[in-house]
Amino acid sequence: MKQILITGGAGYIGSHTAVALVESGYTPIIIDDFSNSEKSALEGLKKILNLEVKTYIGDCSDHALVEKIFSENEISGVIHFAASKAVGESTQIPLKYYANNIGSLLVMLETMRKFDVKNIVFSSSCTVYGQPDELPVLESTPRKDAESPYGNTKKICEDILHDHVKSKSGAKIVSLRYFNPIGAHPSSEIGELPLGVPANLIPFVTQTAAGLREKLTVFGDDYNTKDGTCVRDYIHVLDLADAHVKSLEYLDNQEDNFIDTFNVGTGNGNTVLEVIQAFEKVSARKLKYELGPRRPGDIEKVWANTDKVNKVLGWNAKYSLEESLRDSWNWQKRLSNL
Ligand SMILES: NC(=O)c1ccc[n+]([C@@H]2O[C@H](COP(=O)([O-])OP(=O)(O)OC[C@H]3O[C@@H](n4cnc5c(N)ncnc54)[C@H](O)[C@@H]3O)[C@@H](O)[C@H]2O)c1
Repeated sequence: MKQILITGGAGYIGSHTAVALVESGYTPIIIDDFSNSEKSALEGLKKILNLEVKTYIGDCSDHALVEKIFSENEISGVIHFAASKAVGESTQIPLKYYANNIGSLLVMLETMRKFDVKNIVFSSSCTVYGQPDELPVLESTPRKDAESPYGNTKKICEDILHDHVKSKSGAKIVSLRYFNPIGAHPSSEIGELPLGVPANLIPFVTQTAAGLREKLTVFGDDYNTKDGTCVRDYIHVLDLADAHVKSLEYLDNQEDNFIDTFNVGTGNGNTVLEVIQAFEKVSARKLKYELGPRRPGDIEKVWANTDKVNKVLGWNAKYSLEESLRDSWNWQKRLSNL
């Protein structure tokens, strides 16, 4: 049973990936400082898996702690989720984002080298593309200047990973550029826990439907899209989790000093109004919403070309938008005791 260290494993994508790893015969080990998650995620994992995932509570930029984890376990690979991810906050306190997102990656890479652990899967984001000139966007599409310090940390981390491989460190790396993860585990034991007012569409939709928010504002209806609202590629978090397992298998078959990058999306774009309609259908509720002005920093449209991830990793998104929204809604109902 290969042990995989999941940094940020109590978080949204990390917790679902822990489930996928166990289901594929791996033993996940979590490190999380709970800066953006709650211990209830660990209880949820225990209920789903019927076992306790070994967890270290602390900061994965803490060199001594990370060395301790590597010396106490036989880690064979790392999935590095831990990062601060609030785009808006990153414009107000950029240094927190640079320190945490870059600092934690550096500590991880240094410790991995010291303990001769080569495989790492990194959480990147479609934000590195900005507004691409051509759609659907390919991995080879040039990255644009980042719109936020958060986005910039992802670009810088990608650059660090490339330089690390070029230096013949021996590392074997997959960088996954996630599109828009939504949904939750069908058991509703784990899911996304947005702190404060959600900046992402789906938690805002489900919180509005649950009565926690008065109404949803759709930011902009004059974009150059079929109904004027922004287009994104929404992917079920279970599909995303599975892409990490496939990435680890892929890395096992590579030589040292290897890096590859994959888009992880469905390959379909949906407008905000389409998402609202689909949500109303699966939840059988009318959503209160209004059309408002554009929000600064939002790009018009982005969705993935998934040919590479489909062919090379043998991975395909299985869940539809409706299934993803159903699981998001069930999770919200659980959170709100509905
Ligand atoms: N959710 C998205 O829309 C999205 C999209 C693209 C990329 N990503 C990236 O995917 C990764 C996971 O995202 P998520 O949505 O699961 O976020 P999340 O906030 O739910 O999970 C991140 C976890 O990392 C922990 N953490 C943060 N800094 C830490 C540190 N220094 N040490 C230990 N733990 C730390 C947090 O407590 C949290 O549990 C992040 O790197 C994020 O930038 C997310």
